[in-house]
Amino acid sequence: MATPALNPVLPSAGAEPTSVFLRACLGLPTERTPIWLMRQAGRYMPEYRALRKSHGMLDLIRTPELAAEVTLQPIEAFAFDAAIIFSDILPPLVGMGFELDFVRGVGPHIANRIERAYDVDVLGTPPAEETMTGTLDAIRIVAAELGPRDVPVIGFCGAPFTLASYAIEGGATKDFARTKAFMLSEPAAWQRLMSRLVTVQADYLRAQVRAGASALQVFDSWAGRALGQSDYVRYVQPYNTRLFAAIADTGVPVINFSLGVCSYVEEAVACGGDVIGLDWQLPLRTSWERIGHDRPVQGNLDPMALLAPWPELKVRVDQVLDDAAGRPGHIFNVGHGVHQTTPVEGVRRLVEYVAERTSRPGGAA
Ligand code: CP3
Repeated sequence: MATPALNPVLPSAGAEPTSVFLRACLGLPTERTPIWLMRQAGRYMPEYRALRKSHGMLDLIRTPELAAEVTLQPIEAFAFDAAIIFSDILPPLVGMGFELDFVRGVGPHIANRIERAYDVDVLGTPPAEETMTGTLDAIRIVAAELGPRDVPVIGFCGAPFTLASYAIEGGATKDFARTKAFMLSEPAAWQRLMSRLVTVQADYLRAQVRAGASALQVFDSWAGRALGQSDYVRYVQPYNTRLFAAIADTGVPVINFSLGVCSYVEEAVACGGDVIGLDWQLPLRTSWERIGHDRPVQGNLDPMALLAPWPELKVRVDQVLDDAAGRPGHIFNVGHGVHQTTPVEGVRRLVEYVAERTSRPGGAA
């Protein structure tokens, strides 16, 4: 595996990393269980809300210094073991030709959504180094800041189905009616759309590694919610498989987070990824057994448990840690993004408690 020269957190070829997060991604023993949280930067943090008062979401994402500042906020506040770069899964769609906006109180909106097969053929596939410079520069800033502290930066992208659903619906949806109607009635155009998304996302992930990301996560938030097993296998699995294969030689661990797939987790796992991100629907014990203990896992506290008082939250944190049983290859995380009403104090206690309960002097499991 090639080691990107730009990346100070990654060890040179053949050597083991020292960061607890990267070690767990490789299934190596760690002195304690690493922890980071999906959506760890965001509205539950007063520092983020303060910045957001004077900047739009796309503004924050596209200004490297601001995106870097937001990325670092939860690291400074809670000492997480990894920093996920502050962006969103949707901005790479802009380079392809979509008009994206984040509407306050509503969420993402795409003004020129895909309505017919022809709309797919006018989509571009420009390189990320031309269209995502803000995020790539933000990664460079954060990697330079956190490299000396041995805290890795996680780059990410959305999986093709999840991105296609926004491109076709024009925003969030509960039933995926337009997406599934298009998928089922325009199979050739579906194939072209998914293939273009794979091309753009693979290039974007590779560019993030060149900029200094030491790990990657692919978010497939909606395929498991929208599709049954056989449609997943036919309309999603081939493209996710191509995406993971296209980034397998980057030299950094890749996390496959596919939400809502627990009824067919084997099919989602078969797509690829070094680490499997688990949602909170099944106990970690059950999912890890099904996946196999040789594959590292990340998860899987219900994010809403963070809204509970500490004694109730602690029961659930203990359950996740009991299920992981101190095995190497567990990264503590939530099973979906942290909710905006999460009390900061609960996050602080969670991080402290996971470190305290899992400390293993000498790195033994
Ligand atoms: O995890 C992190 O801290 C990194 C940043 C990050 C954001 N979005 C910031 C964000 C990441 C990794 C995402 C991923 C994302 N975005 C996903 C996949 C993961 C998941 O949650 O299922 C999806 C589906 C999206 C699309 C998206 N972005 C929606 C549906 C919304 C609106 C809902 C909401 O929570 O506001 C967003 C907006 C968004 N993305 C915000 C943040 C911090 C809120 C923006 C604001 O300040 O108003």
